[in-house]
Amino acid sequence: MNSAVVLISGRGSNLQAILEAGIPVSAVISNVAGAGGLAIAAKRGIPTLVVRHGDFASREAFEAILAAEIDRFAPRLVVLAGFMRVLTPGFVQRYAGRLLNIHPSLLPAFPGLQTHRRALAGGVKRHGCTVHFVTADLDQGPIVAQAAVPVLPGDSEESLAARVLQQEHVLFPRAVRWFLDGKLVIEKGLVRVKGDDAQLLNFDSA
Ligand code: GRF
Repeated sequence: MNSAVVLISGRGSNLQAILEAGIPVSAVISNVAGAGGLAIAAKRGIPTLVVRHGDFASREAFEAILAAEIDRFAPRLVVLAGFMRVLTPGFVQRYAGRLLNIHPSLLPAFPGLQTHRRALAGGVKRHGCTVHFVTADLDQGPIVAQAAVPVLPGDSEESLAARVLQQEHVLFPRAVRWFLDGKLVIEKGLVRVKGDDAQLLNFDSA
């Protein structure tokens, strides 16, 4: 089906942006019961499921059930929208070339957690977000698109996070749409966007 399954762990503001953009989402799956994003999806009549990682003895056992649930919906794309689990190479391989993540930094700077805090501590003047294909190397897969924001004097972790999040909500739906429209091509580990949209690939909010 030309639709996405979205995996979440939390509040689901990126999920909401994706839904508001009219992207077809066939299911939303959370590893955390009560994640805010589940209610956002349910309100729109989208099937929601919880697969709690803590219920499983191993990462592989968790992912086996997660993959089985995803595959029931036969999605073209699997979207990680604030899904806070590290995935095994086996899982990543199963969805190779059709697994997208959004990361709150301008990769390759600041992979991992607490990106806004680290950006402030590092004194960078530009920060932002990255949509990328997921590979077995954490936060290192082929970059689809990035949006940059200025780091302003007096910024706190919260103010900077909010500025980046605003851009996430523009960037992620756009990248997901490109994928579902068949516009993303991975060549030698680099992503090319077919067509006129290519000029919009990277943008700067400042
Ligand atoms: C976002 O900052 C995203 O970049 C990161 O996790 C956060 C998820 O936020 N991967 P939300 O659940 O989409 O509101």
